[in-house]
Amino acid sequence: MQRRTEDRDFSAYNAAQHGRPVRPLAVRAVEAAAQGPADAAEPRPTGSGAADGDERPTAVELGSGIGIEAEFLARQGYEVWTYDADPSVEPALRQLAARHPVHHSTTVLESIADLPSADLLLSCATLSFVPRAAFGGLWRSIVAAVRPGGGLAIDLFGENDDWAVTDGTFLSRSQVEDLLQGWASAEVEEREYDGRSFGGPKHWHTFTVIARR
Ligand SMILES: C[S@@+](CC[C@H](N)C(=O)[O-])C[C@H]1O[C@@H](n2cnc3c(N)ncnc32)[C@H](O)[C@@H]1O
Repeated sequence: MQRRTEDRDFSAYNAAQHGRPVRPLAVRAVEAAAQGPADAAEPRPTGSGAADGDERPTAVELGSGIGIEAEFLARQGYEVWTYDADPSVEPALRQLAARHPVHHSTTVLESIADLPSADLLLSCATLSFVPRAAFGGLWRSIVAAVRPGGGLAIDLFGENDDWAVTDGTFLSRSQVEDLLQGWASAEVEEREYDGRSFGGPKHWHTFTVIARR
């Protein structure tokens, strides 16, 4: 069991991701963004099919890995800003940036002072690796980044997750709900089950959040 984030071998994990399908959370995020606010009379225009010269909506992805979801977002018409601590993903992100409007930074999330304004902020299976002491500051940056009416789609790990004994941010349901106070709408799906991780058998406790600012 790795107790510290820096002991986790994210580069091995990321190297094994080539060829996997897009995460369902990214697909749901784009669908939710297309629907717009619940009280909207018309569906919200997405970036899908944005022509040259059109202003693209912006997406931020925290913990992009090799950029599978970033490519999906770019293909949906978004201009995408990606962040990941793992330098081994840089070649894949450079190749992606040659084909799509994707801007990548290698950095730990907890050191980012300002995130770009985002119509959509996506983070798949990453935010809980941020140390607890830094999570509040990162969350404030996330809240500031998502534009009014913009979407948030994230995974968080819960306090009953096997990895909750490692460093990181592992939350109770009420703590997740507290984070979402003041958001226009928020759907939280909590799951707990025995399954597998990249490293072997694991008890998972996850919260999948789809919210609107
Ligand atoms: C479990 S992987 C998920 C990657 C990708 N989102 C996916 O769904 O396959 C977690 C990712 O977060 C990155 N990561 C972990 N801790 C981080 C931190 N503190 N700051 C930035 N990135 C981090 C890792 O390098 C890794 O790419």
